[in-house]
Amino acid sequence: MPFSKQYRIAPSLLSADFARLGEEVVNVVEAGADWIHLDVMDNHYVPNLTMGPMVCAALRPHTQAPIDVHLMVEPVDSLIPQFAKAGANIISFHPEASRHVDRTLALIRDHGCKAGLVFNPATPLSWMDYVMDKLDLVLLMSVNPGFGGQAFIPATLQKLAQARKKIDTWMANGGHKIALEIDGGVKVDNIASIAEAGADTFVAGSAIFGQPDYKKVIDAMRAKLEYNVYT
Ligand code: DX5
Ligand code: ZN
Repeated sequence: MPFSKQYRIAPSLLSADFARLGEEVVNVVEAGADWIHLDVMDNHYVPNLTMGPMVCAALRPHTQAPIDVHLMVEPVDSLIPQFAKAGANIISFHPEASRHVDRTLALIRDHGCKAGLVFNPATPLSWMDYVMDKLDLVLLMSVNPGFGGQAFIPATLQKLAQARKKIDTWMANGGHKIALEIDGGVKVDNIASIAEAGADTFVAGSAIFGQPDYKKVIDAMRAKLEYNVYT
């Protein structure tokens, strides 16, 4: 089995109850979440405002699960040391929001975190070409960033396959492992085709937090993924 078939589910707290975030984290990890996805929005890079490093630090003691920080902010660099200090494990950012993408990636790793680049639906994958050595994660947006609960953009499937190919070629040539994450509109009904296209890590917000039984949704997602592996 190729190692790309090691799947992770990363619930996005964007659709969680903000008045009970610590409890939500504990519950969703108990329900089988692998990572906690934290959507950081600044009302500048995206037209919405969410949470900062203080919230990340407050959540950190509530779980051992990796905290996957998705920065939708501009500028990027000043927040990196703050999120690293707040206990983030993975930090990803949008290349359009940084003046010096290579430098920002290095900054994330220098602070002991895994580094990721995020691609909006219309952002070309070529942004990753000269920084593969500094990437631990590639995150493809399957919606426009800013809000939960939007519909999956179908053209992302083709883009995922192209990203998968780039990453597989990199790894086949002796490169380190790079995760391929998808974010936006992921549901039980489409997760198998998204995995088929090449994703190994799945962000899901409204699909999980919009239901009363988180475990039921995560189990149903895993069942679809297993089906994908063995067929
Ligand atoms: C959008 C965020 C996503 C979003 C996913 O800007 O990056 O993480 O919350 O939410 P759903 O799964 O509801 O599309
Ligand atoms: Zn996100």
